[in-house]
Amino acid sequence: MRLVVVSNRVTMPERGEKVAAGGLAVALRSALEKHGGLWFGWSGTTSAEPSSRVEPVRLGNVSYAVVDLTEAERQSYYLGFSNRALWPLMHYRLGLTDFDRSDYAGYLGVNRRFAKLLVPQLKPDDVIWIHDYHLIPLAAELRRRGVTNRIGYFHHIPWPSAEVFGALPFSATLISTMTAYDLVGMQTQTDADNLIGGLVALRGAHRDGERVKAGPRETVVRPFPIGIDVESFRKLAVASVRAATQPIRATTGPLGGRKLVIGVDRLDYSKGIVQRLEAFGQFLRSHPEHRGNVGLLQIAPPSRSDVPEYAELDRQSDEVAGRLNAALGEFDWTPIRVVKKAYSRSALAGFYRRAQVGLVTPMRDGMNLVAKEYIAAQNPEDPGVLVLSRFAGAAHQMGEALIVNPYDTHEVAEAIRTALAMPQSERVRRFERLYATIAASDIGWWTSRYLAALTGAEAADKLAPPEPPRKASGATRKPAARQRATTRPAAKKPAAKTAIQPAQAANDAALGEKRGSFGQRAGSKPLPNAASPR
Ligand code: G6P
Repeated sequence: MRLVVVSNRVTMPERGEKVAAGGLAVALRSALEKHGGLWFGWSGTTSAEPSSRVEPVRLGNVSYAVVDLTEAERQSYYLGFSNRALWPLMHYRLGLTDFDRSDYAGYLGVNRRFAKLLVPQLKPDDVIWIHDYHLIPLAAELRRRGVTNRIGYFHHIPWPSAEVFGALPFSATLISTMTAYDLVGMQTQTDADNLIGGLVALRGAHRDGERVKAGPRETVVRPFPIGIDVESFRKLAVASVRAATQPIRATTGPLGGRKLVIGVDRLDYSKGIVQRLEAFGQFLRSHPEHRGNVGLLQIAPPSRSDVPEYAELDRQSDEVAGRLNAALGEFDWTPIRVVKKAYSRSALAGFYRRAQVGLVTPMRDGMNLVAKEYIAAQNPEDPGVLVLSRFAGAAHQMGEALIVNPYDTHEVAEAIRTALAMPQSERVRRFERLYATIAASDIGWWTSRYLAALTGAEAADKLAPPEPPRKASGATRKPAARQRATTRPAAKKPAAKTAIQPAQAANDAALGEKRGSFGQRAGSKPLPNAASPR
């Protein structure tokens, strides 16, 4: 069998890109390389004429087939229906949802064209894995063209309840295209239940546990919480701090002794950046003893800036940060720094390791991999504390974080204070359990588990995981243990202890980590291979 991955964005390998590519891109590519495969999707560029055919480029064992969109298609399919209708709707932001019939027509049109261009590339034993909300109707379009292969879909963002989803015009038509898939992967059980509930309510589908049927095909809807490459990220953080490259050094500037609270997000309203800045301001007002000795670094690379709601967020975040800095700052201390650019994964890993608090407070998020990266990057001897929104999918797994309601500024402010005051023994205890959880459900585990389910038990034997999770303590083989990782914190004896070399930890401690400060502007020099958080 061969694996065919379809996603809106296609990550082609480039020189030096190993560092920049996120865990998902690396994991998918590694699965593709292992079994031979095709990665199909939008080239990310526009051209005057729509592509009428694709010419796959073969690199190693993987072929990449990319399609250009016209500017009109980019507007309607990507900016319009995907990011002004589906994105806010899926994130429970009905007030921001802007439905336009011509955008919807453009969305369906691009999905149809993708299907038309993909069909000639397919082989009978291909297994097709489609990713994310841009491509919901793609399987239905492929089925219309006679494709009978196994087709799976993974939804990276939340799926709202039927009440919310039903507000979308044509919601019943769109949701019913989900039944063209054999397997639908969701981030959490809540998302899976919402989709099934929507199919039942809007399409009268029949539900039997995780199986749902509204036509000839039975679709399995199951949670597969996505992970990161924990071990690589941990190593990256250690190496980054040890190398003390420019941006990391900047956080230990001459004013020494200051603590660092960090937020890293695409500049997106779902991430709760403005609310987070306000919460930090509230924390400084309620606890003036912290003024001058702690700072918030918010890294927020711009995203989808052609969408008006994103442009507005850009303006609003500047305004709030400026207002709080003016009101609370001192001549030698700026409480909040918002840096609107992307840093390399290595620099981010170093920042995380230096930060005493990781502030991950989205208003709603499918999973949020920053939460997992923050934990993976910590020094096990002296870890920082994760403050995590209860509305991030990650909260379903990472119960040992300080779980907060991001709408409650006071609660977030108090969590920052608690995190900064937390004794080392408690920080270590929480960290060990969190690390064990993310290590037991890392990106290799996710890929292999999804593909095993998509291909069926028999084919799963042939399709070995691209890289078995190293610290999964049998999680790849024991279904019960696997399920545990999706719903509960890790077992009492975490794998983290064995995963982290004691000598390494001692080394880290010797390097004086966590003594970082917030004294000067972090990393003004642009870095190569900048990576955007998802
Ligand atoms: C989310 C989506 C991804 C998307 C990413 C970045 O994580 O789930 O599909 O690629 O945001 O957004 P962009 O619009 O820049 O691709």
